[in-house]
Amino acid sequence: MANPSTIRLLVAEDVPQVSQHVRNLLSIQSQVKLLEVLNDGAKVVEAAKQLRPDVVMIDLLLQGKVKGPQLIEKLRDSGLDIPVVVLTVPQHPLARDPARGIDAVLTLPFSGFELVNTLSHVLADRQAKATGACRVVSVFSPKGGVGKTTIAFNLAVALGQMGVATALIDGSLQYGDLRALLKVPSDVPSILDLPTDRVQESDLRDVMWRDPAGIDILLAPPRVEMAEMVTARDVEKTISLLRRLYEAIVIDTPTTLSEVTLALLDSSDVILSIVTYDSTTIHNTIAVAEVFSSIGYTPEKLHYLVNRSDSTGGIGRDELARTLGRRPDFEVVSDGRLVVQANNEGMPFVVSSPDAAVSKDIKRAAQTIMGLTANSPVRS
Ligand SMILES: Nc1ncnc2c1ncn2[C@@H]1O[C@H](COP(=O)(O)OP(=O)(O)OP(=O)(O)O)[C@@H](O)[C@H]1O
Ligand SMILES: [Mg+2]
Repeated sequence: MANPSTIRLLVAEDVPQVSQHVRNLLSIQSQVKLLEVLNDGAKVVEAAKQLRPDVVMIDLLLQGKVKGPQLIEKLRDSGLDIPVVVLTVPQHPLARDPARGIDAVLTLPFSGFELVNTLSHVLADRQAKATGACRVVSVFSPKGGVGKTTIAFNLAVALGQMGVATALIDGSLQYGDLRALLKVPSDVPSILDLPTDRVQESDLRDVMWRDPAGIDILLAPPRVEMAEMVTARDVEKTISLLRRLYEAIVIDTPTTLSEVTLALLDSSDVILSIVTYDSTTIHNTIAVAEVFSSIGYTPEKLHYLVNRSDSTGGIGRDELARTLGRRPDFEVVSDGRLVVQANNEGMPFVVSSPDAAVSKDIKRAAQTIMGLTANSPVRS
């Protein structure tokens, strides 16, 4: 959790039963301190100025002179910059929309766990934005065809779906795997269209491909021979600028450890090393882990994801853990039918089949990588 200290909460609620429900849920925990429950929307902005809560919770159906939607707007325009959680009922569904001042939505009835969890996430998000914290994750493997592109794309989309502003970089510069996967026309700009010196935020916005799934993608050059025009320095500069614009950056990488690939890995907070139950892949993964260690990457930077984790090919899970020197951090099951078809259609399966085991595995990894859940994702 980003903020271990108490969350100070102000509530705007005029239905006594709901206020009591919230009070009851909060009375049995110590993470959230309830400052006040106001039943008059007209008093909330002033109270927020005085009490300086960390989060304000507003009932969408709040009645009176200042109703729920107006209060949300007033708070957003007040300049107080306090995140807002909107409370609603199933008959009045509402989508999260930070631009309209709705940082999260809670639908009644909710549990104490959901309440506290939502408040913590909203606050962690806000703090991450304030400090400009961005998580850069490179999806890498020294072996081809293990699922790097598939996982990078779906991981990025899963993060986007969680409300994290996410950019995906096609670091497979020669072949542009994402360009192929998403069937992007060859005249769509790529990393090559960025000026070589003094790249600015506006340049970046112009070259990012906005995917319908809600993420922005920096594409690789459209032709193989153009890849060598991108230098390690270009890559470093681009990532450091993108860090200012996004909360998460996912990078699809090629198999070769070239100077540019190393620049991508250097610039990353996390290297998600994809392993499969295949002896050559495991062998190469260990060899490259030694390289990482010798160039000074900390063990915490390296995470292992076992792709097609249910296709063990006779290698035991314990044996894999022993060989890697630790338990893998994540597992993603095999689902040939779904994954191949989704890839052929250029669709993220985390969106088209959110309840499939393979999608849940990716979403679990996305949450853990962003620090939203404890690091114990692997089923035992
Ligand atoms: N969990 C999975 N279940 C079933 N099929 C998968 C899974 N992950 C990846 N695949 C399939 O494996 C193949 C290789 O995947 P992908 O192209 O993502 O690998 P890659 O590591 O990026 O390859 P390259 O080294 O060529 O860049 C694809 O056909 C993809 O559909
Ligand atoms: Mg690939």
